Amino acid sequence: MNFDHEPADILDRLNQLRRADAPTHGGRVLSYVYDSGLAELDELAAGAIRAVQPVNGLDPTTFTSVAVMEREVVAFARDLLGGDSDVVGTVTTGGTESCLLAVKTARDVWRGAGASARTGMPRLLAPVTVHAAFQKAAHYFGLELDLVPVNGDGIVSASDLIARFGDDVALVVVSAPSYAHAAMDPVVEVAAAAAKHGIACHVDACIGGWILPFWEGVSPWNFSVAGVTSISADLHKFGYSPKGASVLLQRGRDRQRAQYFATTQWPGYPIVNPTILGSKSAGPLAAAWAITHALGTTGLAELAESCSRSTRALCDLINGIEGLRVIGNPVGPLMAVAADESVPTNRRVDAHHWADQVRTHGFLLQLQPSLVQSDDTVLPATTHLTITPVTESVLDELSAALLAAAEEVRGVAPISAAAALATLPAEVSAALSAPDAPPLTSEQAAGLLAVIGLQGASDGLPERMAPLLALIGALPAPLTERLLTELIARLVEPTN
Ligand SMILES: Cc1ncc(COP(=O)(O)O)c(C=O)c1O
Repeated sequence: MNFDHEPADILDRLNQLRRADAPTHGGRVLSYVYDSGLAELDELAAGAIRAVQPVNGLDPTTFTSVAVMEREVVAFARDLLGGDSDVVGTVTTGGTESCLLAVKTARDVWRGAGASARTGMPRLLAPVTVHAAFQKAAHYFGLELDLVPVNGDGIVSASDLIARFGDDVALVVVSAPSYAHAAMDPVVEVAAAAAKHGIACHVDACIGGWILPFWEGVSPWNFSVAGVTSISADLHKFGYSPKGASVLLQRGRDRQRAQYFATTQWPGYPIVNPTILGSKSAGPLAAAWAITHALGTTGLAELAESCSRSTRALCDLINGIEGLRVIGNPVGPLMAVAADESVPTNRRVDAHHWADQVRTHGFLLQLQPSLVQSDDTVLPATTHLTITPVTESVLDELSAALLAAAEEVRGVAPISAAAALATLPAEVSAALSAPDAPPLTSEQAAGLLAVIGLQGASDGLPERMAPLLALIGALPAPLTERLLTELIARLVEPTN
């Protein structure tokens, strides 16, 4: 075959493109990637993916390896998460898919069938800190989203959640822990009350599921808690698998069958899908299967200990920096850092300026916006750090960067909404704040992005993110969401 391009050249180009990516290894990026620091695990995963590369994960009766691997991963997860033989599960493509399916299951169970089927809109109840995947689920599956405010530490009061229980609640979701603040929700109280009211209770342990079993001092949160009906736990986070793997475990076969979609009412092959996709890669499942077998609980525990040491060290270090504070008492290897408002403004360290400054020292932290809750209280702007086993190998350098950056931006005022808006030309800010403006066309949205300086962002993130986050906070959310949609959509539009 005469190829259009030589395979070797194509791979060269890919490797060149990869060099522009944020580094996935080495502990420089403290979000998105979960690096065990063990090169042999990467090799094992690559070998496993290669072995199943042509397999279609759609049909475990034709490709029986898929059923065996999935069964073994589910068994491992069930033991790890305190499940008994009544707990069954599925490997999905990631946290979002696990969360979507938990909601879809609960909605269909709530609706019921036959003469007693419920009509009307079911409600999805959760603390406001619940991962945005649940907002997506409510949007996709037609549930009303009821988000309950949390306190300044990101903790929801169990009684505030329970007070909102009602016949229309199809699912209450709690996190173990939440992504934004590493806050552990009151699983025991909420699950017990949910069971009493006959409401399903999902524990979103996407980030905590594979590490909290090895973390000290965590209150009960898994299937050992009566009333917990489902748990999501991502293999591609602290299971150290390549992206594309999570488990959704459900208590009770009958309830779990509502997760499936099956139809024989078309002229093709019978469809029986436990997950959202039809044809799918078996690669991430094979990689996750290989890695869980390689690590076992002993390996996971060892990696968790490394995360725990680094988390403790970083928490102490950051809490010791005048002008910064870690939010609450993080549970698990992640934390949110905010400006310490108890010190005078000239000694404060704005969390977003700090993150931008840390980047100039070679580490990428994640900026998180402030949020006005439904009771008008405000969760402060924070900077997020996820700590992985590889963090320990760069701990000294990272600590020095965090300290130096804080000194460099101490006293620099946060960018106010007014200042962010003032960066826009007057006619643009007037147009943006017009209350009844019609929805933006793609051309208008692209024009605004150009004015803001964000068009053509395919070169990567702007050097400093604090001004962008301030602008995001200053503009109405629907407008920001529209602009960001345009930004991302245009990244993949053909350029010629
Ligand atoms: C608690 C929690 N739930 C859900 C998700 C969504 O996971 P994913 O990005 O794999 O779709 C995340 C991701 O960080 C998370 O931390």
